[in-house]
Amino acid sequence: MARIVVVGSINMDLVTTVGRRPAAGETVSGDGFALVPGGKGSNQAIAARRAGAEVEFVGAVGSDVFADALRKVLREDGVGVARLREVDGPCGIATIVVDAGGENTIIVVAGANGRMTELSTADLETVAGADVLLCQLEIPVPTVLAAARHARANGTVVLLNPSPVRDLPDDVWAEVDIAVVNEGEAARLESALRDVPHVVTTLGGAGASYRGPGGLALAHPGFPVRVVDTTGAGDTFTGALAAHWHEGPAAALAWACAAGALATTKLGASASVPAAAEVEAVLAAAGAR
Ligand code: RIB
Repeated sequence: MARIVVVGSINMDLVTTVGRRPAAGETVSGDGFALVPGGKGSNQAIAARRAGAEVEFVGAVGSDVFADALRKVLREDGVGVARLREVDGPCGIATIVVDAGGENTIIVVAGANGRMTELSTADLETVAGADVLLCQLEIPVPTVLAAARHARANGTVVLLNPSPVRDLPDDVWAEVDIAVVNEGEAARLESALRDVPHVVTTLGGAGASYRGPGGLALAHPGFPVRVVDTTGAGDTFTGALAAHWHEGPAAALAWACAAGALATTKLGASASVPAAAEVEAVLAAAGAR
């Protein structure tokens, strides 16, 4: 069983469903509303856990009404929360609008995630004890760098999902073993990704591709599904990939593509992460396992 540590964000997602998203200055009637625990870090932690890994989460919730629910969603899945701190002020919040085609728009307010400015000795020990460190970009970049440096120095594989995308200092990229990007991120980060040993690019409904050392290239097609909501599908893909990385890129890619596809069939980020048995059934039906 892979040991994964996520150093990342946790948000409460305020999800509104609507037939079509309004234009600027327009008001439309929505179809529904739900509060769903999310945040790229938390979603990826849950995805890695449901894919069979042992997972520890290093992050921060605030002191508002959402903190307990966010803590609970990790705990209920068996994700370790000993390194989840509580800080004064609001939790991270994401306002998400999902239209009838399953496409979304998201506004994230960092809240407590923005206060993840330091890693304690215990946080760093957790990083050093894991097989894979999983980071995203919803916490301060210097914290991502500190975690990645400590991981690398202790033989922990560093997997970065550089999302929400932004340009990063070279010293961050120097610590990255595996990058997981979507097509937009791949285009924006093209030159930085050249020196990353393993790059996995998600291709939406078309699956994913992999480029490894020495030009090794693989691809896995998508699994046809009825899309309800794409929110968090990339997080499910990334967490699942991290959990199965030790099986090699081809097996990890297949599992991640199936998990990511299944995640689009339900509303909500963490709520749509499939169980291992569901992913196994899809892979078996496709003759991939
Ligand atoms: O990737 C999806 C996630 O992005 C949502 O859960 C939301 O919280 C934002 O962080």
